[in-house]
Amino acid sequence: MIKTILATVDAQMPQKQIIEQAGQILKQGGLVAFPTETVYGLGANGLDADACKKIYQAKGRPSDNPLILHIAKKQSLYEIVKQVPQKAEKLIDAFWPGPLTMIFQKKDCVPYEITGGFDTVAVRFPAHAVAQNVIEAAGVPIAAPSANVSGKPSPTRASHVLFDLNGKIDMILDGGSTQVGLESTIIDVSEQIPVLLRPGAVTKEMIEEVIGKIEIDPAILSQSDENCLPKAPGMKYTHYAPKANVILVQGQDLAAVQKRIKELVKEDLRLGKEVGILATDQTKSAYGDGIVLSLGNRENPQEMGANLFKHLRKFDFLGIEVVYSETVAETGEGMAIMNRLKKAAGYQIIQVV
Ligand code: TXA
Ligand code: MG
Repeated sequence: MIKTILATVDAQMPQKQIIEQAGQILKQGGLVAFPTETVYGLGANGLDADACKKIYQAKGRPSDNPLILHIAKKQSLYEIVKQVPQKAEKLIDAFWPGPLTMIFQKKDCVPYEITGGFDTVAVRFPAHAVAQNVIEAAGVPIAAPSANVSGKPSPTRASHVLFDLNGKIDMILDGGSTQVGLESTIIDVSEQIPVLLRPGAVTKEMIEEVIGKIEIDPAILSQSDENCLPKAPGMKYTHYAPKANVILVQGQDLAAVQKRIKELVKEDLRLGKEVGILATDQTKSAYGDGIVLSLGNRENPQEMGANLFKHLRKFDFLGIEVVYSETVAETGEGMAIMNRLKKAAGYQIIQVV
């Protein structure tokens, strides 16, 4: 056990003294969790293989799952990647700083320990004052996976990080709830036609508006088998999974979906199970039994994305055993929401016709 320092920090105007302390810890090879606009990250010096090993230990993360390097100015990119294709330059101009991660050919200074042995490296320039100031204070690119124990939903508040990693890391900066709530979009720009590896708040539609047609890793939409492993190694693990058995209930007719969920809940309650329902503002009042949590307004996918991981953790906290969840259309940010929901559900989907 190490003593984990918990420091509250202003999300817009981070206190210099706290940032300096975090920077010192990172320079000395320690681990600092900090907020970004997507989820909380667990940072270490990204050019120091030994420091990064501690990330894998603290999270219980498989060593073949590569980390994202976080930078706080665009120029830092050229120090860690071999070339920046023209399409990547366009995406940088459009979306950095922001929730978009890109995969490039790595330079030698980037250790293989953080790339899972790949010759490529993932890079992101986060749009959050705390994240940016911490990276600047450390003076190096910061490797930062989501600050959760491997397999748990990503943390969207400091209390989630504390719950998972207290005693295992040096410091947690509490900058309040994260705005996006889902991990960054990942796109591989090292290929001729860029490939979307993980959907996020920068949507496929937004990217195609800037650089034209892109491909989607098929593993994003449906369960991958051994012949079709996802290109982002992390996407192959059962991620985002709460302890509860999550089951999605999908159908064109929302009223029919609600009716089916109510029947399923009733039956499970009869069997003595603790049941939860993941609903929306438009539907939540229709459910009588079970613990109902609303993701938010169906017309507002940003709001729904921001609440998803928080609610999955809440169900665990409440000891819920089965969660039935409504679904959303797989367009815009809905693609990211459905991708995380399907993974949380282990691809169990009941179709209502
Ligand atoms: O929003 C985010 O991206 C957050 C915040 C903290 O920035 N970070 C995050 O990191 O989600 P992590 O480690 O939880 O997810 C990184 C994903 C994994 O699925 C990993 O396999 C993939 O990125 N990845 C990293 N480097 C890669 C590479 N060279 N090629 C393919 N996939 C890569
Ligand atoms: Mg993660």
